[in-house]
Amino acid sequence: MPALKVPRREAEPVKRKLKKLGLYDGKRRPKREDDFVLLPVIEDERSYTLGYEVLPVELPFRPERQIYKNLESVLAERLSEDELKYLRRYDVIGDIAVIQIPPELEHRVEDIVFALRKVHPFLKVIARKGFHEGAFRIRDYSIIWGEKRLETVHRENGVEIKVDLSKAFFNPRMKGERYRLAQLVKDGERILIPFAGVLPYALVIARYRKVKITAVELNREAYELGLENIERNRRRLKGEIEFIHGDAFKVLPELPSYDRVISPTPRGVDALSLTLSKAERWLHYYDFVHENEIEAFRQRILEECQKLGRECSVRVKKVSDFKPHVFKVCADIELR
Ligand SMILES: C[S@@+](CC[C@H](N)C(=O)[O-])C[C@H]1O[C@@H](n2cnc3c(N)ncnc32)[C@H](O)[C@@H]1O
Repeated sequence: MPALKVPRREAEPVKRKLKKLGLYDGKRRPKREDDFVLLPVIEDERSYTLGYEVLPVELPFRPERQIYKNLESVLAERLSEDELKYLRRYDVIGDIAVIQIPPELEHRVEDIVFALRKVHPFLKVIARKGFHEGAFRIRDYSIIWGEKRLETVHRENGVEIKVDLSKAFFNPRMKGERYRLAQLVKDGERILIPFAGVLPYALVIARYRKVKITAVELNREAYELGLENIERNRRRLKGEIEFIHGDAFKVLPELPSYDRVISPTPRGVDALSLTLSKAERWLHYYDFVHENEIEAFRQRILEECQKLGRECSVRVKKVSDFKPHVFKVCADIELR
């Protein structure tokens, strides 16, 4: 497969350009070679016209894709093609794998455990995931193999995050979102994060930027894990995190406004006007929206801004599938 050989200092802008042109092959990992980076590109004539050497190299698949492929290929020996269609994506959080097993694969639990252990020999726990429940959005899990615990330390974006899936919400799939936001933030910003959980957003942003973050969380156990996470990452963090235990709807009205507010809003909670009223320049507001309602959601935000006497521009980005036709979205709102 082709890869563009680019001097290291040009790697980021060239990667952005390749993505814009639709030439970047996100399924494979770039590779550093001395003062150069090999950027994976798709087979396309345009890749050869950019002024960089194009080399034929075997760059490895990104782990999540490779992992999924491997699980499928291990199971292909044991499951029928029909059964394989029911196989869902799974997550590895620290040394715990969590997977949803639909009724159609109920009789295949042992095969799935076998395959997961084969693909990830380091696993200590395999849990079957149910649905998020209650105001604290804790998932219902049952352990189907391994040690009887749902506590682990997950590594992402250069930080360590202690989680306990039986006590607090955590979603490893938001890793890319956390990185995206950290890249948007500038040194010196004051940032507010209500609904902060065990602090994944705060830690990743403070890891990369010299900022002051105030985070708020209602679930006492998530709050305590968050405090532990600040200590655990102390020497890695450029920024500072103040963590408040309390109800965002009671705490926020007492707080000042901030350059940027990030609201990983729990499903079913409407915190738009609350969080908007605390944002001076930016609000990143997460919500769950039907694909036919995205424009109405955008209009609602514009109206809320108007009510506050603020001008704003809104860009709504689909972040992940939630259920058929419903997406988790992030509204990036710039206020003037
Ligand atoms: C969708 S989770 C996001 C957690 C975290 N930001 C993350 O991404 O892992 C929402 C969080 O809001 C918390 N929460 C729910 N209602 C709250 C409230 N009224 N005030 C503060 N936090 C609340 C829940 O306990 C949960 O940790």
